[in-house]
Amino acid sequence: MTLSNMALFKSLKRGCEYNAFFEVFFIIGLVICPFSFSLASAEVRPTSPHEPKGHRTMNCDKDIDRLLNQMTIDEKLGQMQLLDGFEDGRYKPEHRDLAEMGLLGGVFNVRSARITNDLQKAALEKSRLKIPLLFAYDVLHGYRTIFPIPLGLASTWNPQGISLAAKISAQEARAAGIKLTFAPMLDIARDPRWGRIAESPGEDPYLGSVIANAWVTGFHSTETKDEPATTTPDKPYRLQFAACAKHFVAYGAAEGGRDYNTVDISDRTLREIYLPPFRAAVEANVNCVMTAASEINAIPSVINDYTINSVLRKEWQYSGLVISDFNSLFELQNHGVAASPQEATKLALDVGLDIDLVSGYYLKSGVEVAQKSANARLAIDRSVRRILALKASLGLFENPFTDQSAESASLLSPHAKAVARELAAQSFVLLKNDRSLLPLVINSSKIALLGPHAQSKADLLGPWSADGKESEMRSLEQSLKSRCSGADCILTPPDQTLQAALDTAKHADIIILALGESREWSGEAASRSSIELPKEQLKLANAIANSGKPSIAVVFSGRPLAIPQIAEQSSALIQAWFPGTMGAEALTDILFGDVNPSGKLPVSIPRSTGQIPVYYNHKPTGRPFQSGNRYTSKYIDEKNDPFFPFGFGLSYTTFKLSDLNIRSNSNSLPQIQVTLENTGKRVGIETVQLYVRRLNTSVTTPIRELRGFFRAELKPLEKRVINFKLNNEGLSYLNRDLKSLTLPRCVIIEVGRSSVPELSKEFCTDNRKRQSH
Ligand code: BGC
Repeated sequence: MTLSNMALFKSLKRGCEYNAFFEVFFIIGLVICPFSFSLASAEVRPTSPHEPKGHRTMNCDKDIDRLLNQMTIDEKLGQMQLLDGFEDGRYKPEHRDLAEMGLLGGVFNVRSARITNDLQKAALEKSRLKIPLLFAYDVLHGYRTIFPIPLGLASTWNPQGISLAAKISAQEARAAGIKLTFAPMLDIARDPRWGRIAESPGEDPYLGSVIANAWVTGFHSTETKDEPATTTPDKPYRLQFAACAKHFVAYGAAEGGRDYNTVDISDRTLREIYLPPFRAAVEANVNCVMTAASEINAIPSVINDYTINSVLRKEWQYSGLVISDFNSLFELQNHGVAASPQEATKLALDVGLDIDLVSGYYLKSGVEVAQKSANARLAIDRSVRRILALKASLGLFENPFTDQSAESASLLSPHAKAVARELAAQSFVLLKNDRSLLPLVINSSKIALLGPHAQSKADLLGPWSADGKESEMRSLEQSLKSRCSGADCILTPPDQTLQAALDTAKHADIIILALGESREWSGEAASRSSIELPKEQLKLANAIANSGKPSIAVVFSGRPLAIPQIAEQSSALIQAWFPGTMGAEALTDILFGDVNPSGKLPVSIPRSTGQIPVYYNHKPTGRPFQSGNRYTSKYIDEKNDPFFPFGFGLSYTTFKLSDLNIRSNSNSLPQIQVTLENTGKRVGIETVQLYVRRLNTSVTTPIRELRGFFRAELKPLEKRVINFKLNNEGLSYLNRDLKSLTLPRCVIIEVGRSSVPELSKEFCTDNRKRQSH
C-alpha cells in the first residue's frame, strides 16, 4: 500500500458520519409526500430508542472520491457486480479470481465466518486497491433461527415483535459474515395464486408500511455493547447491517398471479397500493432497494426511469443503492427491449442501476458502453460512490473480517428460540372454535394426529429458510408427544394411507388434522392456478367428518387457501402458515392453551379460486351488491365476500367493543376513543382496528381503509379505553391529478376487530354534522 493509500484507508476506517442536512429533506418529504402513512395514530408505529433519525448520507465524500480516482474503469464496474455463490454457502472458483483482480463488489449466498473471511482475505491481500467485499444473503425471516414466514409474521400485527425478529436475524447473519440482506420483501399481494405472497406483508398498504418500518428498524438495531448505534460527535453512527427493500415495485400485481408475469396497473393503484410500504422503508433509512424481475406498464422494473428516478430518487430523495434482481439485465433481452448485453448494460446505466445481480453484464459490456457515453461514465462514478459509502458505513474498511470463534455461539441461542416460539404462537390465526373445543386439556382425551404435516419438519421452515436446519427442530408429533404422558396420548397411523388414518381415528376422542401445502408449493416460482387443498387431504377430512368425531384442522401454507369444506367440517380451524424453527412447540402451546391465540389475517381468505382477487379495501362500484337485485355487482355462483375477512382472528376469550366517541381537536381532526372489554375468562390479546371511508370525493375511494390498529392485552373482565388519532393524511385521498391530497369534509370512521367493523360514526371536519350508525 502506498503512503497516500494508507492515509486514505485510515480515514475511511474512521467511518463516515451522517449529515443532519438530510433531515430537512425528510421533513419536507413528510409534508409533501402523499403516500406516507406516518401521521397515523401514535400507538401504531413502534419507535426504537436507537432508530436513526432522518435520511443519512456520508460525510466522507472526499475519502471516497480519492479512492474512486485511483480506480480503473474495470475496477469500478467490478464493484457494481454482485455474484451468487453455491446454495450450500461456498463461493465459486471464479469469485476468488475476480476478488484477487479487484473485479468483484461482493457475493451472495456465500456464508459462514470461515468462508466469507477466506474470500475477503483474497480480496484484501491480492487486489490492487484492497477494497473489502460485501457479503449479502436472503435473510427473509431468520438466518439460522427461522421465524414464521413474513406473511405469518404479518399475522401477528406486532411491529415490535417483527423488529425483534429482524434484529435477531441480523445478529445471526452478521456472525456468519453477512452484512446485507435482500429483505424486507414489501410486495403487497392481492392474489394468493402468486407463491411469493408467502414473503409479503399481505394485502394492505397501511399494515405493509408499518411492517416495512418494523423490519428496517429491526435490521438496523443490531448494536452490541462495543458498537452503539447512536451517534455522538466522537463516535459516528456505524451501520451494523444493511437492508434491501424488494421488489420495486408492484411485483405482486403479476397477471393471473403467475410469477414474473406482466404487470399493467394504473398510476393510482401503483401509488395507493404498491408504493406505500417502500416509501415507509425509505423513511426508515433502508440502505438498498431491489428492482422487481417484472415489468410495469411496458417498462421492465430494472430500467424503469419513472419508478426509480421520478419516484424513488426525486420524490422520495432516496440516496441509497438500487440493485437489480437475479439476472435482470440478461432478461432485458427476453423482455424484448435490449438486443444485446451492451444494450442492456446501457439501459441499466442510463437509469442509474448501481448493482447488477448475477448477469455479469456490467463487467462484460460496461467498458464498451462507458467508452461511448460520458453519461454512463458519470453514472458509474455515482454508483461506485454509493457502494463505497455503504461499505464504509458498515465498517468494512475498518473491520472486514468476522470472528470465527464467535459464530456458532451466536446462532440459535436460547433467546432466539424463545422469541421464535413466541412469535410463531402469535402468528397462528384461530379461524373457528365451535363449542370451545380448543384449548385441549392435556391427558384428558386420546388425540389422533393425522395428515401430511404431522411429521414434517422442513415444511415448517417455509420456502426461504436461509440457513435453518430441519435437524435442529421438532415435528408436531414429537412436540405434542413430549407434552403429554402415556404412550397412547397422541395416536399416529403407521402409514399415510386413508385406511390407516381412519383406523387410528377410531381409537381417539379428538382428531387433529395437520393439513396444507408443502413448502415447495409456495414462494418464488411457485404460483398455483388453484388454491384448493389436494384431493387426498379433502378426502381425509371428509372421512373424518363422517366418523362424527370432533376435529381440529391446522392448515400450514404459504398463502391463504380456499378451504370452505375444511372450515365447515372441522370444529376448530387454525391457519398456521409456515411457522419456523419453533413452530411445532408454538402450536403445541396454542393447542394446549398455554398461549391464547391472537393472530389476525393480513390477507382475506377467499371462498374459491374464481373469487380472486378478493380484498377488503375494494371500491364501491356504481352498482354495489344488493341481495335480490340481479343488476348489482356480484357472481351468480359465488358470494362477494371472502370466507374469512382481512383482520379476522379469534381468541380463547371473548372481547367486546363499545362507546365509540369522536372528538375534534383544535385542528378539527378526529380524536377517537373506543372501549375494549375482555368479556371472557382468560387473559387475551385483541387487535382493535381503525378504518376510514371518505364521503363525497372527486375520485372513487375504497369502501374502507385501515388507518390504525392497537394490540391490547386484557385480563378477564378488564376494560380499556383505546385512543386513536388521525391527521389530515390519514383522512385525505389522492386527487385526480395524482399529486395533491384532498381532505374530504366528512368521513365515516369505523372500528372493529376485523375489516368487518362493529362501530362507526360519521365525522365532518367542520364538526357540524355527526351521526351514529
Ligand atoms: C429473487 C430475489 C432474491 C434473489 C437473490 C431472486 O430470484 O427474486 O427475491 O433476493 O433471487 O437470491
